[in-house]
Amino acid sequence: MIELKDIVKTYTLGTQSLTVLHSVSVTIKDGEFVAIMGPSGSGKSTLMNIIGLLDTPSTGSYHLERKEVSALTDSQQAEVRSRRIGFIFQAFNLLPRMNALRQVMQPLLYQGVHRREATTRAQEALSAVGLSDRMHHMPNELSGGQRQRVAIARSIVTKPALILADEPTGALDSKTGEEIMALLEALNTNGVTIAMVTHEPHIANHASRTIHILDGNIVSP
Ligand SMILES: Nc1ncnc2c1ncn2[C@@H]1O[C@H](COP(=O)(O)OP(=O)(O)O)[C@@H](O)[C@H]1O
Ligand SMILES: [Mg+2]
Repeated sequence: MIELKDIVKTYTLGTQSLTVLHSVSVTIKDGEFVAIMGPSGSGKSTLMNIIGLLDTPSTGSYHLERKEVSALTDSQQAEVRSRRIGFIFQAFNLLPRMNALRQVMQPLLYQGVHRREATTRAQEALSAVGLSDRMHHMPNELSGGQRQRVAIARSIVTKPALILADEPTGALDSKTGEEIMALLEALNTNGVTIAMVTHEPHIANHASRTIHILDGNIVSP
């Protein structure tokens, strides 16, 4: 699914340059559920953003589904992102003025799916995360756990091969966090590959494998 080889990421700030990933190589197979752990500032989100084609590496190669993707144009990358990848974030990243149904329809409308079909598919995705009775609620009318369920529905409505979750339980209490993990595990059982950043060991335990990162290097546990 994912093959990163010798990925370096350097940010340039004025005359200073800061290397935040030092020759990182990672392989994630189809159907795996991988946790990425490491202290704050170690490069976890930078790595996830590169995997999600939200950021480009300075050097190195990135194959996604056997295709070199780092050389694609921005619009080709956007197309791959829209078709193949779902994103879940710590802060949910919902749009404040859209109800749950409309949030989940959004990626389909972006793909050019007709409103009618988008509505049906968004309703199905919301039902799959247990929110069939909250479709017309606005984000501020939902609990944290329900907001993250909306975000999960939005991430799966396009039927992605890969889900990237950056601290998906970081803003939730532990019971709600476990409920979100049960949903992610069920998605993985249904064949979706998952890469998830967390700094909570009991959350990482839901994954089948953990990658540790320290100061921009992959380290053995
Ligand atoms: N756009 C950017 N410009 C400059 N430095 C950045 C940028 N994004 C992240 N960094 C730096 O890169 C390092 C790794 O950040 P990040 O990947 O967000 O860490 P983590 O997610 O592990 O907490 C940090 O030192 C951070 O300050
Ligand atoms: Mg981060």
